[in-house]
Amino acid sequence: MKPAVLVTKRIFPQAIAFLKEHAELDYAESDDGMTAAELAQRIRGKQAVVSQLMDKFTPEVLATLDGVKAISNVAVGYDNIDVPAATRHGIFVTHTPDVLTDTTADFAFALLMASARRVVEGHHFVHSGQWTKWRVDLLVGQDVHHRTLGIFGMGRIGQAVARRGKGFSMRVIYHDTKRAPEAVEQELGLELVSKEELLRTADFVSLHVPLMPETRHMIGAEEIRMMKPTAILVNSSRGPVVDEPALAEALEQKAIAGAGIDVFENEPTVYPLLLKLENVVLAPHIASASVDTRIKMSMMAAENAVAAIEGRRPPNLLNPELWEKGKNA
Ligand code: DGY
Repeated sequence: MKPAVLVTKRIFPQAIAFLKEHAELDYAESDDGMTAAELAQRIRGKQAVVSQLMDKFTPEVLATLDGVKAISNVAVGYDNIDVPAATRHGIFVTHTPDVLTDTTADFAFALLMASARRVVEGHHFVHSGQWTKWRVDLLVGQDVHHRTLGIFGMGRIGQAVARRGKGFSMRVIYHDTKRAPEAVEQELGLELVSKEELLRTADFVSLHVPLMPETRHMIGAEEIRMMKPTAILVNSSRGPVVDEPALAEALEQKAIAGAGIDVFENEPTVYPLLLKLENVVLAPHIASASVDTRIKMSMMAAENAVAAIEGRRPPNLLNPELWEKGKNA
């Protein structure tokens, strides 16, 4: 008998076909997701689960997953899974890095451009028939080229955003707890600065940090106060990195010029004030959502799960120490 795999939500059909070749599949072919209780019940007897962002694997949930060898998340971020607790329970955790790096960076830059050049306001203006004459100051925004781009988090996606900034002749400064490799700093002309300097200097602040206790509300009222009144904040990382009410109030008071936001503190709920403001561009967590990339993410998650159930090292393992331990046992 083939090992059993649970897929908690809809993924691309190519990945389902691949999983069916290797496993008995329990496929929740819907976009609804599962409650913790449903997940715990449906996961019984499975060797792997292909999960998504809304599936929460807390220490309590993980403690109930008898026989599960792997959780394969269809995302690069994995703040929905307590990886140390999974390791303690002997469960491999995998994610989908690299395939979404450029796609996500493209979107972060799209939000930056759209906010700076008021693209969405322009669309609504024309669409609603308000455009009756050309005006010298009609929807004037902020230049992007030759401005300063400040990036929090110089990992894969941060670097890809920096590369786009360089293409727009921007000065690129960054802040991270870990310095980028010297070759990367040189190639992209990066300058490492303090958090305060970044906030005070950047015309555009783009967030590319993972969600961890240290990054939760990393950008709050105090940080926003340090930003230039002409500055624009872009968040395509995780919602809770920004204090959403503080951002909404700052935007309402024009304390900063604008924001481009793809991720929210309580998705899919958006802080109501944000929905009323013109100086923010909002998107429904779609930074990695190109057809090619979402197919690749689905396939990668399927391949990670199959490797685990077939006793091979999953390629994108987040707790490799577990594999080493198994090998040496
Ligand atoms: C990720 O991969 O972490 C994204 O947020 C979902 O595509």
